[in-house]
Amino acid sequence: MWTRSALALAIVLAGAAALAAQSPRFGVGRPPTPDEVRGLGAAIAPDGGGLPDGSGSVAEGRTVYAARCASCHGPSGAGIPAQYPRLSGQHADYVEAQLVAFRGGVRRNNPAMAAIAAKLGDREIKAVADYVAGLR
Ligand code: HEC
Repeated sequence: MWTRSALALAIVLAGAAALAAQSPRFGVGRPPTPDEVRGLGAAIAPDGGGLPDGSGSVAEGRTVYAARCASCHGPSGAGIPAQYPRLSGQHADYVEAQLVAFRGGVRRNNPAMAAIAAKLGDREIKAVADYVAGLR
């Protein structure tokens, strides 16, 4: 009986040794710093707390929207249901949070949106979020 237990122990120890040997080799992971978490946009609260500071004007938002968003979401933000979501009248905080999440890689379900958001600065995001909130 003891040989079986000894064998089991040996297997467990060998497994642990293999794991210990592998981890440093793959170099996977370390805990993110608080700044990195903020950068990912993961710290955005439902009430918009944690969004970047600053502001952008609606006029600037109109320019950003026409150049970078209208081709998919439509000139009036109506979208194409089931394909491109409607943005008109969407809450500015929600739009802003989604763009920050796409940009930071937190929302990863659409590579096109991630690529578009990656090119937007905080100010452009605020501006375009305010602009779409006013679309009808
Ligand atoms: C290449 C086409 C394309 C362009 C250009 C584009 N989007 Fe999108 N967008 C999409 C698609 C597709 C989705 C849906 C992603 C998904 O499956 O959830 C989406 C999702 C979104 C969402 C999330 C909607 C929701 O209900 O959660 C927001 C907000 C958004 N886009 C804003 C913008 C803004 C602002 C711009 C311009 C800066 C823009 N998009 C440009 C295709 C596009």
